[in-house]
Amino acid sequence: MKIGIIGAGNIGKNAAKLFVEAGHEIAIANSRGPETLDETVEKIGGDAIAMEIEDVAKFGEIVLVAIPFGKYKTLPVDTLANKIVIDAGNYYPNRDGKFEEIEGGEMTESELVAKHLENSTIVKAFNTIWSEHLKSQGNKDLPVEQRRVIFVCGDDEDAKREVAELIEEIGFGAYDTGGLREGGKTQAPGSAIYNRDLTVREVKGFLRAGY
Ligand SMILES: NC(=O)c1ccc[n+]([C@@H]2O[C@H](COP(=O)([O-])OP(=O)(O)OC[C@H]3O[C@@H](n4cnc5c(N)ncnc54)[C@H](OP(=O)(O)O)[C@@H]3O)[C@@H](O)[C@H]2O)c1
Repeated sequence: MKIGIIGAGNIGKNAAKLFVEAGHEIAIANSRGPETLDETVEKIGGDAIAMEIEDVAKFGEIVLVAIPFGKYKTLPVDTLANKIVIDAGNYYPNRDGKFEEIEGGEMTESELVAKHLENSTIVKAFNTIWSEHLKSQGNKDLPVEQRRVIFVCGDDEDAKREVAELIEEIGFGAYDTGGLREGGKTQAPGSAIYNRDLTVREVKGFLRAGY
């Protein structure tokens, strides 16, 4: 599959490497332009290529967005239309500025992204795992239940299934926390599961116990 990655930092480049190793074609962009990503694409390996943001959005059948959340309004609405967009972003007011809708509990970070990308299907994933764990903890040899969990949420079941398959291909196990509203809250920074090093099996017991 062709996967576009917007954001070539900690999450973007580690995810890109894992996707390449799983046999996918990758194009990646940052805010400064493809000419600044020579070293990054070399480290990602495979046939990974750097492109302008607009071209990455065009290239990807699925597009992973891994940029500071506060920049979400720069994402290209028309080019990302009719695509699954994986949102790895987190809201950190000190970095992103204050968003009253999130502060007031009216909307989650990914709901704001979904409102902006009005014709895309948003799945929130990869936002609760530290990039170093993303790099090192995938293990395709383990049964899914025993793998490190990566949480997903979204309002489209088929899109979530597709993202869950990608997660399994790179050696993790997906766990669905619901729609963008409740799942977005479950997966937000500071929540009980945020940055918790749990397997799929453990998380089932953990959430049953009421955390
Ligand atoms: N780090 C983690 O462990 C982790 C874990 C889970 C989720 N997250 C979340 O994932 C997101 C990315 O985190 P990160 O740690 O990977 O960030 P990072 O290392 O700071 O990298 C951010 C990347 O986004 C690019 N970027 C910035 N603004 C952009 C824009 N408007 N359009 C396109 N690209 C843009 C930057 O490009 P330039 O360098 O050219 O500006 C850079 O490549 C954040 O929302 C973060 O909270 C992080």
